[in-house]
Amino acid sequence: MTQNLLEVSHLKKYFPIKRGIFSKTVGYVKAVDDVSFTIKQGETLGLVGESGCGKTTTGRAILRLIEPTAGSVKFNGEEVTTMPAARLREMRRQMQIIFQDPYSSLNPRITVGGMLTEILKVHGLRTTEAERRDRVNELLETVGLSPLHARRYPHEFSGGQRQRIGIARALSVEPKFIVCDEPVSALDVSIQSQVLNLLMDLQQRLGLTYLFIAHDLSVVKHISDRVAVMYLGEVVETTDYKSLYAHPKAPYTEALLSAVPIANPRSKRERIVLTGDVPSPANVPSGCYFHPRCPKAFADCSRVHPLLAEDAPDHSVRCILYPNSWPEKSQVPERMKSGAQREVAEAAL
Ligand SMILES: Nc1ncnc2c1ncn2[C@@H]1O[C@H](COP(=O)(O)OP(=O)(O)O)[C@@H](O)[C@H]1O
Ligand SMILES: [Mg+2]
Repeated sequence: MTQNLLEVSHLKKYFPIKRGIFSKTVGYVKAVDDVSFTIKQGETLGLVGESGCGKTTTGRAILRLIEPTAGSVKFNGEEVTTMPAARLREMRRQMQIIFQDPYSSLNPRITVGGMLTEILKVHGLRTTEAERRDRVNELLETVGLSPLHARRYPHEFSGGQRQRIGIARALSVEPKFIVCDEPVSALDVSIQSQVLNLLMDLQQRLGLTYLFIAHDLSVVKHISDRVAVMYLGEVVETTDYKSLYAHPKAPYTEALLSAVPIANPRSKRERIVLTGDVPSPANVPSGCYFHPRCPKAFADCSRVHPLLAEDAPDHSVRCILYPNSWPEKSQVPERMKSGAQREVAEAAL
């Protein structure tokens, strides 16, 4: 069995909302609220959800680029959230991030070769000038650029090339794990698949593990082994990508999937249009956070906040259409307790 490289449990990140001259905390933006998942060595977990649901915050909290409010992140069995600063610096080499907009994270006044050389120096990865030059050339070739590009500045590259530079920068420290934060969302569709193919190819060659963030399911479909769907700071469904696409359980996942173009137009999948805006994570709805927009909501949904619970082996869902999601087992309606639970529950709506 492959080992879990990353184990995230009950991760939370609350941003305080401050008001007035004394900066009194008047509430919290619950950007990430109780997120749990695992990623096996060499695999990709796709993290999907609409804009503002907490994906970037999750990625950054895992790397401790921002401090988590609560929860645990284990990397290779070692707790990251309480790691002392010196150890965290060592760990950062193993855990890297690729941003949606690489341009904003590249220094416009430094050549690409200069930037990569500096990283190698800081981390003591090559000792001589010649070795560093060779390594920079190798990194550029690894991401499909040419050694000639080393002398150019970030603005001289196209969007796709800049994302390749972002990938070269992440790879320069020889990481095991990379958070890919919407790495293709800002690129033309024709370029997207090239960068996705590069990431998949690198994963094979270098044995990398990815957390791949995207706001729609079509992008993660090709790259993910498993998928976690987020809504308003919470994971609402997680399973392997085949089950997720073939048998989605959470109504929110169904709604996201119905927005994905399908190859077979005669497929029975009905189109669910998500109405209304995503509520603010500073003021979440009662009960299930999705209930005001959910086409399947029933009376209990505005009252009961569902748990993320396994409904089938390795397929977890957060929705009270599934008996295991009820926090109080005694409250599960009789009609849902036996048989084809979902059909029974749905028929009763
Ligand atoms: N530094 C911050 N201070 C306050 N609120 C923040 C901060 N960063 C993110 N948020 C809020 O947290 C929520 C989740 O943001 P984010 O993680 O960027 O979502 P996503 O990446 O899914 O679009 C949003 O409502 C956002 O406005
Ligand atoms: Mg984001």
